[in-house]
Amino acid sequence: MCGIVGAVSKNRNILPILITGLKNLEYRGYDSAGVAYLKNNKINIVKTSGKVSKLENKLNKSDESNIGIAHTRWATHGKANSVNAHPHRVNHITIVHNGIIENFKEIKDMLEKENYSFKSSTDTEVGCALLNYYYEKFNDVDKTIKAFMNKVIGSYAILMIIDNDLDNLYVMKKESPLVIGITDKTNIVASDIRAILKYTNKYYILDDFEYARVNANEVVIKSVKGDILNKELHTIDIKDSDNYKGHYKHYMLKEIMEQKTTILKTVLPFIKEGLDSLKTLPDLTKYKEITIVGCGTAYHAGLVAKYLFEEVTNTRCNVYLASEFRYQNNFLSKDTLTIFISQSGETADTIAALKLVKSKNCPTLGIINVEDSTISYLVDTCLYTKAGSEIAVASTKAYTAQVALLSILVLSHGLRNKTISRDRALEVIDEFKSIEKLITPLLNDKDTYLSIAKNIYKEEDFFYIGRGLDYYLSMEGALKLKEISYIHSESYSAGELKHGTISLIKKNTPVLASATNSCLNPKTISNLKEVLARGADIYLICNDNYKDDTFTIINIPRTSEFIKTVLVIIPYQLIAYYTATLRGTDIDKPKNLAKSVTVE
Ligand code: G6P
Repeated sequence: MCGIVGAVSKNRNILPILITGLKNLEYRGYDSAGVAYLKNNKINIVKTSGKVSKLENKLNKSDESNIGIAHTRWATHGKANSVNAHPHRVNHITIVHNGIIENFKEIKDMLEKENYSFKSSTDTEVGCALLNYYYEKFNDVDKTIKAFMNKVIGSYAILMIIDNDLDNLYVMKKESPLVIGITDKTNIVASDIRAILKYTNKYYILDDFEYARVNANEVVIKSVKGDILNKELHTIDIKDSDNYKGHYKHYMLKEIMEQKTTILKTVLPFIKEGLDSLKTLPDLTKYKEITIVGCGTAYHAGLVAKYLFEEVTNTRCNVYLASEFRYQNNFLSKDTLTIFISQSGETADTIAALKLVKSKNCPTLGIINVEDSTISYLVDTCLYTKAGSEIAVASTKAYTAQVALLSILVLSHGLRNKTISRDRALEVIDEFKSIEKLITPLLNDKDTYLSIAKNIYKEEDFFYIGRGLDYYLSMEGALKLKEISYIHSESYSAGELKHGTISLIKKNTPVLASATNSCLNPKTISNLKEVLARGADIYLICNDNYKDDTFTIINIPRTSEFIKTVLVIIPYQLIAYYTATLRGTDIDKPKNLAKSVTVE
């Protein structure tokens, strides 16, 4: 979602830094963009709906500046137009803001009584006016920020420029990520260090209720009480090149192909020395139950883990959508480990659910891809997936890395609680070590996926079915297709079809099934025959060398259920990808979606 970049320099034009930063944040999802910078001793604001390239074209090519702030906005309060786009400016104060000011209505009413009026429908303009109100009242930046932080309910990462203090950028943070990148005589602030890696890999991370004064020479970070803080300077070793798509047409395809290596990279630290390395994973035998929380694809990875925990290690496991978790009775206890799964580590609902569990002093574990993200700091123990930067909004390599890491966690648990023998565990470890060999033919089978895509890309409804583990995998398959092709696609448990959904099946309705569990397959095949009899076109992923001329069949290698999960998903991902290419959609940045959903 929204992204922010700000820069201040002694000797360089910061406008290219702002635009490059915004471009690097585009993948998060946004619908308008804007920039404010110092020009002829005045703040010049340029905003637009639509893309950063449109904003870039609106800028006067000869403009140069030493201080500025910039923003990509994903609309929450008010339409995606240039009035609502950030930066917002009220009298002396200009700001960009990520997050939501929840009590903006109450603050707006208060400010209207003080004769403030508003041009936009945004909570951010209200926040800007509140900062201006306090600034005029106290004529002191520390007091202004302190009063603002005490008054505002909600989340924010804010960059602020004050008219008569034009050497400094002020930044403040609560529940929305913010880093301050350090370079020689130029300091750059952003919502994600990856946006500014071209310029620096050294950075400070602001924590909640901290703020900073940033100028070309120094960074002074303070707590809300006004104490100066001595923060750790972090270094990140991701290469800027990780953020480029190379010869691939889309990041999504590049990331699908990277699964050849990312799965093994994720699990290797825990299998490289055989069973001994598995012991380095957390011991889960001290817990009676496991709860898993996540959103979107991460939730689907959690469902796969539930299947493995319950069916293989006889350990009860419940999985919840983070957005629902907070508003239900979760039977939280110290005997239950809650696992939070998140690619970004910044998803607002997942963070809120995590804070709830922590407030009850119950144990937490994170499965996170982005290092130094909010969730990675909040959980008791964090295990990292090693998928690398995932830029395409639709998650692919992060999902398989999550599933692989969770599978290995289940494997180590099964060894400890003696539901898995040492021999079986060694077999699974060998399978993971040969993952590249198993996965490569599936990744390379473009002809099959493209010919399926050609059959289905004009359809408006697509059904996915499966039983057991295959049902959970089909949920992720259906999500991939709808996210990037905009075809309505739903997954159903194969056995439920007759209880309603079969009424929707008509001639040529595409139905994609996976049947990779030999004891459930005959039942799924019967369900497929039922939809076939009603005219559906059937596509089947299986591992039995099953032959049936009435179905289009994709065979995957026969493996243990630990590995199967990452094999079945490959055809799902690539069918979605090629279908979307035929429909000509914006595959890496699908409409209305955001990579990192930082509002609840
Ligand atoms: C968004 C993304 C999805 C992702 C979900 C959870 O909806 O578009 O791809 O699965 O958020 O994100 P997280 O970063 O917590 O895994």
